[in-house]
Amino acid sequence: MNGSWAVVTGASSGLGVEFAERLAADGANVLLVARRADLLEAVAERVRSHFGVLAETHPADLTDPAQRAALVTRMAELDVSHLVNNAGFGTMGAFAEIEPERMSQEMELNMVALTELTRAVVPGMVARGSGAIIQVASTAAFQPIPTMAVYAATKAYVKRLGVALWEELRETGVRVVVICPGPTETEFFATAGDDAVMRRRRTPAQVVETTMRALAAHRPLVVDGLPNAAMALATRLAPVALQARLARVVAST
Ligand SMILES: NC(=O)c1ccc[n+]([C@@H]2O[C@H](COP(=O)([O-])OP(=O)(O)OC[C@H]3O[C@@H](n4cnc5c(N)ncnc54)[C@H](OP(=O)(O)O)[C@@H]3O)[C@@H](O)[C@H]2O)c1
Repeated sequence: MNGSWAVVTGASSGLGVEFAERLAADGANVLLVARRADLLEAVAERVRSHFGVLAETHPADLTDPAQRAALVTRMAELDVSHLVNNAGFGTMGAFAEIEPERMSQEMELNMVALTELTRAVVPGMVARGSGAIIQVASTAAFQPIPTMAVYAATKAYVKRLGVALWEELRETGVRVVVICPGPTETEFFATAGDDAVMRRRRTPAQVVETTMRALAAHRPLVVDGLPNAAMALATRLAPVALQARLARVVAST
């Protein structure tokens, strides 16, 4: 059995489950992180029996600095070959009406936790001359989005950070890829409070396949799905006020 580990955050549902299964199928042991311990254990059980790898659960709320520190301590005891920074959520609605505490948690999880976990694994990966970091951003990263203003801003951060690290680590043997999914069939929209929006969705399997191909090709960033990629490219060409106005229309359809 391989001694290396893939750490997957947000591994209790959606994209995280798919990433964990894919990396386990490729032979990595998996450390599964999220809050819902029962769901993590079910994923771990499936992964052990299907792929014959080790699977450990690490229930944690990554908005809590102490719980993040405990995860970093556990990660330091493992040979981490892959880090998938996938845990995240989005708030939707008028900026002035979103609970301030929920917004802070969104920033803490989507940006601070992702950055701290990345910082924790990079030195070991550089020392070994290998490793892979998958940063889950979003097509929301490409433009300001009224009614999802904080979420889009956190994902723009993930995109910028990830691509900067791709370049910084390019000659160390450590690969970094930023994946920008568009609407995908997970619990994301229910958590955000509006499961009715954006009906045309991709599957987690498609997103993970897109990611793994981009990682293998050493690409810094990939948008999942051709229509999403075309939209992201077109967005970049528009003036910023138009970007925001169009995003508002799309977010409300
Ligand atoms: N679905 C989409 O349309 C879409 C599009 C673009 C980008 N994304 C991004 O994809 C990533 C995965 O989301 P998903 O679509 O798979 O949605 P999801 O099914 O809601 O999964 C989110 C995961 O994050 C975990 N999580 C949430 N809060 C957490 C916390 N405080 N501490 C630890 N873990 C936490 C959840 O587990 P627990 O609840 O058990 O903690 C869950 O495993 C997110 O970063 C999201 O922004 C999604």
